Amino acid sequence: MNMLKDKVAVVTGASRGIGRAIAEQFAREGATVVICGRKQETLEQVASEAAARIGDCAGSIHPIVCHVGRAADIQRLVETTHRQFGRIDILVNNAATNIAQEPVLQVDEARFDKMIEVNLKSAFRFIQAVAPGMCERGSGSIVNIASIAGLRPQYQGMLYSMTKAALIMMTQSYALELGPRGVRVNAIAPGLVQTVLSEYFWKDEQKLRQIIEEQPVKHLGQPAEIAEIAVMLASDRASYLTGQTLVVDGGRLLP
Ligand SMILES: NC(=O)c1ccc[n+]([C@@H]2O[C@H](COP(=O)([O-])OP(=O)(O)OC[C@H]3O[C@@H](n4cnc5c(N)ncnc54)[C@H](OP(=O)(O)O)[C@@H]3O)[C@@H](O)[C@H]2O)c1
Repeated sequence: MNMLKDKVAVVTGASRGIGRAIAEQFAREGATVVICGRKQETLEQVASEAAARIGDCAGSIHPIVCHVGRAADIQRLVETTHRQFGRIDILVNNAATNIAQEPVLQVDEARFDKMIEVNLKSAFRFIQAVAPGMCERGSGSIVNIASIAGLRPQYQGMLYSMTKAALIMMTQSYALELGPRGVRVNAIAPGLVQTVLSEYFWKDEQKLRQIIEEQPVKHLGQPAEIAEIAVMLASDRASYLTGQTLVVDGGRLLP
């Protein structure tokens, strides 16, 4: 408890799945958490359900609608957060999509651009908007949610894999230059986690059984298991850790 007391955090894509679990865990640890997604109603429901679960003594969750593929939305979210809460100590770039599960030769330019915009440029825009304040205060933690697909190509998932691989390199590049200014930048590369995004891999029982068979930890990953790692990276307990990509995949990528 209280690992993130008095911290202000922004978690993108927190209306469900991993982002929602991260936002709730951050609030449990005492943070004031701004969550975003594309629908106000859904975000408000998430915030009120979280408040009921978390109780009074912890932090709080505040919804702000933001399409992460739109620069103006990102600017507005960052400005509103600064106005309401004074600063941003923690940024989690979690929102992402996978619109193109298809053979490489069918990939078209429109989908290529959209995946770059939503999965990659969004993180760049958020960091460019948030990190200067962190540097001025000499402290901050940025966590990018990548994927094991960014470390090993996903079959018929070139665009997704490509954006996640670039996010890992973006993490290292920012870490290198922002470290001396007190800002740590890390990534998490989850393996299969039970969310809407990954339904394709776990809804089919046979496919799921095969995946679980291939990994040392014999269960399907849950969003809360990623959230625990995000808390650690965001908190001062990880004060000597930067530029890293923590693979949280039940051991799936082990040789
Ligand atoms: N699940 C897995 O197995 C797995 C594995 C490796 C990595 N990951 C990564 O983990 C992160 C979270 O994924 P998830 O599995 O939790 O997915 P999810 O359940 O589909 O949730 C995605 C979240 O992102 C939001 N989002 C999507 N497009 C958005 C946009 N344009 N603007 C703002 N918000 C947007 C969604 O909100 P709205 O739809 O309400 O806007 C939702 O809250 C992603 O970066 C994903 O690549 C997941």
